[in-house]
Amino acid sequence: MARRALLTGITGQDGSYLAEHLLSEGYEVWGLVRGQANPRVSRVRKLLQDVQLVRGDLLDQGSLISAVEKVQPDEVYNLGAISFVPMSWEQAELTAEVTGMGVLRMLEAIRVCSGITASRGSASGQIRFYQASSSEMFGQVRETPQTERTPFHPRSPYGVAKAYGHFLTQNYRESYGMYAVSGILFNHESPRRGAEFVTRKVTLGVARIKLGMATELRLGNLEARRDWGYAGDFVKAMHLMLRAAEPEDYVIGTGRTQSVRELVEAAFGAAGLDWERYVVCDQALHRPAEVDLLCADPKKARTQLGWEPTVSFEELVAMMVEADLRLLAGGGDPDQDSSWP
Ligand code: NAP
Ligand code: GDD
Repeated sequence: MARRALLTGITGQDGSYLAEHLLSEGYEVWGLVRGQANPRVSRVRKLLQDVQLVRGDLLDQGSLISAVEKVQPDEVYNLGAISFVPMSWEQAELTAEVTGMGVLRMLEAIRVCSGITASRGSASGQIRFYQASSSEMFGQVRETPQTERTPFHPRSPYGVAKAYGHFLTQNYRESYGMYAVSGILFNHESPRRGAEFVTRKVTLGVARIKLGMATELRLGNLEARRDWGYAGDFVKAMHLMLRAAEPEDYVIGTGRTQSVRELVEAAFGAAGLDWERYVVCDQALHRPAEVDLLCADPKKARTQLGWEPTVSFEELVAMMVEADLRLLAGGGDPDQDSSWP
């Protein structure tokens, strides 16, 4: 029998790559979709024709219980979240509800459907649970590089909500003996990255300027440093974590760090442009509290899971610039994008 996986966040970047990876591993894949007429659902239907969809929302406990009852998954990957950090200051309560409390609701759905109580673990095969934790939890970092043991100091309502979900996942593992793990993932990008995040904003900006559709690109803090990897590599680590013999948390990143300025140089350079002629620094795009530096130490994932990133920063930037040049030259619209590569 094929193993069955249920993914929240199927309409997002990671959901699409993880679904493709699990399908290639012979899984039956189900995606949770929300809303009455969510336009991103049609993109999923087109790109991921073998994925089955079930309705539900991380804000609605009953809907998650129904989804778990219907799908009867072997593995649940909780990727759904409000994931754009600046939005978490504007809608802090909603972020807490979706990104934080949503984890509790998903864990409870699994616990209730599995008949697990404080005095009784699950009788039969356990549903394994993956939580999409984030390097944003490290925030104002206490040490560099960051490991599974580095203390958290989140700098945004998003980071705080992720820290809640992270500790809760650990707590359900310890309280109920559930196979529940968190992947502390550093920034990962791709041609499917949302246009609001800095890598895609830059590669779309480069493509627009190259094609004569724009004359400038407005950005915020150019000095922040991130450990940027390729999403297609990172979703494989999620799967490896749920297939490991023991439930444990892992840091997933490349171990290299670049500044936004270096990202900009690389992206404009990939299109043969001089970034200094086009980039405008806009104070309004700076954040109330910044995370200045993130850099992973992925040693545990390498030694225990055998996970390695395969795409370098330079290859990733070139891949994204090329994809956006192709998309825009072909008349594609990144906001209505039905043509995900
Ligand atoms: P993304 O592209 O922004 O996707 C977010 C997903 O969450 C979308 O599918 C969205 O669905 C769903 N969602 C939002 N509100 C929901 C709700 N109320 N109920 C159910 N689903 C809801 O994010 P991503 O880059 O794929 O990241 C996946 C996960 O990893 C997120 O939890 C993110 O916080 C975390 N993470 C990402 C990175 C990274 O660098 N990409 C790093 C560390 C951690 P709709 O289409 O319905 O809005
Ligand atoms: N988005 C954006 N737009 N960021 C900018 C801009 C801009 O115009 N200018 C500078 N930046 C800087 C931000 O201040 C930040 O320091 C950095 O670029 C990266 O911003 P994002 O790409 O928005 O990502 P993030 O690091 O805040 O969050 C992403 O990674 C986290 C993991 O570390 C998201 O995917 C989160 O969901 C994820 O948890």
